[in-house]
Amino acid sequence: MNIAVLGSGTIGQSWCALFLAAGHEGFAYDPNPNRELEIREFVTNSEVTLRALGYQHAGSLTGFCFTTDAAKAVKGAQVIQESAPENLALKQELYRIIESALDPKSTILSSTSGLTLDMLQIGFSDPSRILIAHPFNPPHLIPLVEVLGNELTAPDLIEWALSFYEGLGKVPIELKKSVPGHVANRIQAVLWQEVLHLAKEGVASLSDIDKAIANGPGLRWAIYGPNQLFSLAAGAKGLEGFIDHLGPSFQGWWSAAGHVELDFDTRQFIEGQYPRIDENECRAMKAHRDHLICQILNAKKL
Ligand SMILES: NC(=O)c1ccc[n+]([C@@H]2O[C@H](COP(=O)([O-])OP(=O)(O)OC[C@H]3O[C@@H](n4cnc5c(N)ncnc54)[C@H](O)[C@@H]3O)[C@@H](O)[C@H]2O)c1
Repeated sequence: MNIAVLGSGTIGQSWCALFLAAGHEGFAYDPNPNRELEIREFVTNSEVTLRALGYQHAGSLTGFCFTTDAAKAVKGAQVIQESAPENLALKQELYRIIESALDPKSTILSSTSGLTLDMLQIGFSDPSRILIAHPFNPPHLIPLVEVLGNELTAPDLIEWALSFYEGLGKVPIELKKSVPGHVANRIQAVLWQEVLHLAKEGVASLSDIDKAIANGPGLRWAIYGPNQLFSLAAGAKGLEGFIDHLGPSFQGWWSAAGHVELDFDTRQFIEGQYPRIDENECRAMKAHRDHLICQILNAKKL
């Protein structure tokens, strides 16, 4: 399939690596010409991991072209994965530029984390062929894609998008309603607020709370979601049994949860507890993270 990736930063590069590894071809567009080399390096660097996940074309740049011309990128593309900066006016302007060059049957999938579909649709005279398809970073590894259409969406386009991502080895879910931040980021945001709240209250340090999550519930969450896990905890009594047993405690913890502003004080607090790491260490930790994600994904296939 011919796929165009618009915006070749963090998310665009990762999408490119995945699409190429799955045997697709196409263009990547970015106004910054330096991104071409970055994509080529990204594809090469992700080869081992993607190959370990079973992508036979991992590392191949066959059929890959880079352009600084957005209209050229979308010509002949069946799928456009838009990963331009999170700026509504910029995305709408980009859509205006590409619209006349689009194949009328092509589908535009926006990676946006925070913009709503109705805002994005304003960028098109035919709003029926754009969906939100929000990945989790890095999209070449993390399976989740949150797919959202609305009443203007062409019939069957959501089903088509779900099977498109499934075909790429992803785990897409359909969002039935537009809410700021979609689903998974909203849950992350609530969790992080409580992390900061507990740390600011002096209950535990930020790094100890990281340890608590990565070595406690985080391990289970990689296998099942919280509903399934809580249901399992109560055995044959299921979630109902769990609520009978621990519901009142959860209700109390919800009431005790805190509210945090990301203001100057909080930022000072975070910086005091969590010193920055340098580029080299950051790169090494990301490689370690990706290696382990790959191992977990492969273990889940067993
Ligand atoms: N970073 C994440 O964790 C993450 C996760 C999921 C979704 N997203 C979404 O993906 C999108 C891209 O985010 P990112 O983190 O890759 O940003 P980024 O800043 O890393 O990359 C954006 C790229 O877009 C390019 N660009 C600038 N102007 C452009 C234009 N007019 N048209 C096309 N490209 C242009 C930039 O040069 C840059 O290479 C955003 O909508 C964001 O919400 C980000």
